[in-house]
This record gives sequence, structure tokens and C-alpha cells, in this order.
Amino acid sequence: MKVLLTGASGQVGSCFQDLAKEKFPQVTLLATDRSQLDISDAAAVERLVGQFQPDVIFNAAAYTAVDRAESDPEGAWNVNVQAVENLALAAQRHHAFLIHISTDYVFNGEADKPWAEDHPCDPQSIYGSTKLAGEKAALTCEQAIVLRTSWVFSEYGNNFLKTMLRLGKERPALSIIDDQRGCPTYAGDIASAAMEIIFAAPRPTGIYHYSGVGETSWFGFAEAILQKACVAGLLEKMPELTPIPTTQFPTPAKRPKYSVMSTQKIAAAGIMPVSWLPRIDLVLQKLKTSLS
Ligand SMILES: NC(=O)c1ccc[n+]([C@@H]2O[C@H](COP(=O)([O-])OP(=O)(O)OC[C@H]3O[C@@H](n4cnc5c(N)ncnc54)[C@H](OP(=O)(O)O)[C@@H]3O)[C@@H](O)[C@H]2O)c1
Repeated sequence: MKVLLTGASGQVGSCFQDLAKEKFPQVTLLATDRSQLDISDAAAVERLVGQFQPDVIFNAAAYTAVDRAESDPEGAWNVNVQAVENLALAAQRHHAFLIHISTDYVFNGEADKPWAEDHPCDPQSIYGSTKLAGEKAALTCEQAIVLRTSWVFSEYGNNFLKTMLRLGKERPALSIIDDQRGCPTYAGDIASAAMEIIFAAPRPTGIYHYSGVGETSWFGFAEAILQKACVAGLLEKMPELTPIPTTQFPTPAKRPKYSVMSTQKIAAAGIMPVSWLPRIDLVLQKLKTSLS
């Protein structure tokens, strides 16, 4: 099984490389970061896909700087839409299956029950709009799946868990948003879900939601991270936490208030989402090992 991975140095890309290396010797992986394959370069995408002839293209690359996108819509469009068109075209032309990742930010956040895949989208930010257009671009390839996920964390890159650890060490007290709700998702679990899709017969196509099990707020997520970091010996003392409303932490991009997505459809396809809570321990252990 030949898999072309894009965005290999991001959170999901790094976890996918680890998984392939550790558990899937039957996967011939061509892992490319931006310096090896800039997916917004149509000619480069066509050339590499034509040469490698992958069975599957897993696009883990994206413009993920949600706030920066508000002042750089063109940059976000190039990576989140134009580049996905390049991948979809190459996948279609060379008969590869395309796995593409999208986001809860395609919804407007005004709900009180989990979003289903077929619920109308209404993105509230440039990032969300470009990711929605990217979904449509991905699905121009007949053999493609779009996995919408949320609140991604891991031992790699920049994410909320690592920010909380850093701030928890630097400050005695933290104020954390408590009126946005969603489901954290470990990047390694997204990698595992992608691997299950790669080996599924037949592979599911269309849009699916995949996020960690258990709804929380950023406050709840921060509290769990910091408490577990104290237990793991990565933090000396629990900082004092204060829940605050979004209005007290203005950002250039508007965030959805309610981001919980229903994962019934992917579970029915045999791919089971897992709880994010024990994944915090796993990531903390990995970070601890990398420090020692
Ligand atoms: N992070 C979240 O909380 C979250 C939530 C929901 C959905 N998602 C989605 O999940 C997917 C994976 O996210 P992630 O957190 O793993 O992202 P990430 O850590 O930010 O990684 C994205 C990777 O894409 C690369 N990239 C950007 N532009 C590129 C280009 N033109 N060509 C090739 N590579 C390029 C980046 O490289 P550079 O480092 O060189 O820029 C980076 O390594 C994305 O589709 C994202 O939209 C993420």
C-alpha cells in the first residue's frame, strides 16, 4: 500500500508517520513536508503523484493559523482550497483515494445538540470558509473522504495542551474561556482513523465527523491538562483557574460557541472515536520522555 502524506511535519502528519513506522510495515509511506511538496504548487503535486503513483493521498497539510487568516485570506485560500483542488485533481487523474481533514469551524456554533454531517454549514471565519470550500474541492475527486475534526492536540507542534503547560509554568493564575464547548481530539487518533480508512474495504467516501469522545469547554480541558501535568510531575503547582466568557478574550477570528459534532456516522462505518481524557496522559508521558 503506497501512501503519499502531505503536511508531514504538522500534528496529524507527525502522528501518522509514527503510526506507519511503528505498526504498519506494509505501508510504503512517502511523507512530505512543505519543503518537499508545496501543495499549492499544482505542477509539483502532479509531478510527484505521477511519479509515486500512490494508492492513497492523505492530506494533513492546511493553513491552520485561524486568527492570521482573517488578515491573510489569500494565503488561507491558497492552501485550504487551491491546493486541495490540486490534490483532488491529481488523485482523480492517477486513481488514488484522497483523505482530507476539515474542521468544526464550518458550522456557526449556534446549536445545543451535536452537529450532523448533513447539517447546513455557516462558517464564521476566513479559516472556516476556506476549509468549507476545501471540502468541496476534495470531493470533486470521486474516491475521497473528508474527515471533520476538532480541538486537535498532541505532543507535536503548537496546540492548546502545550500552551497550557507553558502558561501553567509561567503564571500562578490563568483565565480560561468557559462558554465554548467542543470535543478535544488526539492527533494520533486521527492518524489511526485515517489508517483504518486506508485499509477499509470498501473505503467510506463523503463527509464524516471524527472527534474525541466527551464534550467539554476550554476551561474543562485546561483543568484536566493541568491537573494531570501536576500528577505527571511536569508542573510543580496547579495554577489558580478562573472561567471567563469569550467576550473577555477577543480574537480576530470568531470561534463557534458549540462545536460538538455527532460521530454516529463514522462509528456506524466501524471506526470508533475514543475518549480524549486518557490521551492527555499519553501526550504528557511523551513530552516527559522527550525532556529526559
Ligand atoms: N489544530 C486544530 O485544532 C484543528 C481543529 C480542527 C481541524 N483541524 C484540521 O486538521 C488538519 C491537521 O491539523 P494540524 O493541527 O495537524 O495542523 P498543523 O500542525 O498546523 O500542520 C499543518 C501542516 O501543514 C503544512 N503546510 C501549510 N501549508 C502548506 C503547503 N502549502 N504545502 C505543504 N504543507 C503545508 C504546515 O507546514 P509549515 O509548518 O511549514 O507551515 C504544517 O506542517 C488540518 O486540515 C486542520 O485544518 C485542526
